[in-house]
Amino acid sequence: MPRHITVVPASTKAGRETIRVLLASESKPLVRGIYRDTSKVPAEFASHSNFEAVQGDVGTGAGLDFSRSDAVFYIPPPIYDGTDQGEWATQTATNVKSALESAPNVQRLLLFSSVGSQYNHGVGILRLNHISDKILENSVPEVLIIRPGYFHEDWAHLLEIAKADPPVLESWLTPLEHKVPMVGLQDIGETCAETLLAESTKPSPYYFKLFGPRHYGSLDLRSAVEEITGKEVQLKIVERGELPSFFAKLLPPTYVQELVDMTTAVLPGGTMAGDFEYDEGTVRGRVELVDSLRKLYTKEK
Ligand SMILES: NC(=O)c1ccc[n+]([C@@H]2O[C@H](COP(=O)([O-])OP(=O)(O)OC[C@H]3O[C@@H](n4cnc5c(N)ncnc54)[C@H](OP(=O)(O)O)[C@@H]3O)[C@@H](O)[C@H]2O)c1
Repeated sequence: MPRHITVVPASTKAGRETIRVLLASESKPLVRGIYRDTSKVPAEFASHSNFEAVQGDVGTGAGLDFSRSDAVFYIPPPIYDGTDQGEWATQTATNVKSALESAPNVQRLLLFSSVGSQYNHGVGILRLNHISDKILENSVPEVLIIRPGYFHEDWAHLLEIAKADPPVLESWLTPLEHKVPMVGLQDIGETCAETLLAESTKPSPYYFKLFGPRHYGSLDLRSAVEEITGKEVQLKIVERGELPSFFAKLLPPTYVQELVDMTTAVLPGGTMAGDFEYDEGTVRGRVELVDSLRKLYTKEK
């Protein structure tokens, strides 16, 4: 069982939740978190005797010292500064691969990926994950690659919308009965920590999906927001043709088409639409969408 684990970048949502579970684990591993800005280390980690924070950057490769670890958890961070997502994926995964080559003691890599990362085109921004998977899938003796669904917590902005008068929830999940895989950060943290600490692993590389207890669509989003906030919410569907103008309100122009392509890929008939079944290798989480969002809402209050 790995005794010393490096998480990089530790400030990612998946990295943070996994560190939290590792530090609470009875197996008491030593955890090293790599941050490009160490002022962002959460106080609960900084004060923990089994945790060490170090400065490092997956973009430049600086500070990626894995020499004391027997396992590494890498979460490819997306970039939104105008850099091409494919070039960024290659640069960052190559930096991580070089660091692994300089650390022969690392036996296990857990690579955070995404549902749909097996496609080399037609999945928009998820090419970040496709490229990272390919560069790293044989980098150390045991490579485990996790393909989660959409994070529950990435719908947190809907709780804000509920404060408007009248509250209108815009959703690109169409048609109304269409449901896609989603998963909460609690299940992500627990599954990643368990995988990092497991005694024996699968043949390498081993790809597996992580979904929540069930899939969700637009009506589930609305009912979760209504249940949590106690407000009646109107649903406004964003039709396929409206996706470019919808994402243009949220992102720099360079990334709009990539978001449109990723979204179209999960809609009926899209590249990823056939990948949503729970199969033999799929880990099924326990936490419902409404409970993940309620936790955020209660914390904010
Ligand atoms: N979100 C989802 O629904 C979802 C679903 C499936 C898979 N995924 C995958 O999960 C991964 C994370 O995506 P996310 O959007 O959820 O991101 P995220 O967890 O919000 O991560 C972004 C973080 O990466 C850090 N970072 C960025 N560039 C860095 C660098 N050069 N060196 C060190 N740290 C750096 C940033 O740290 P600072 O604190 O320093 O800014 C920021 O905290 C992606 O590979 C994505 O495809 C996401």
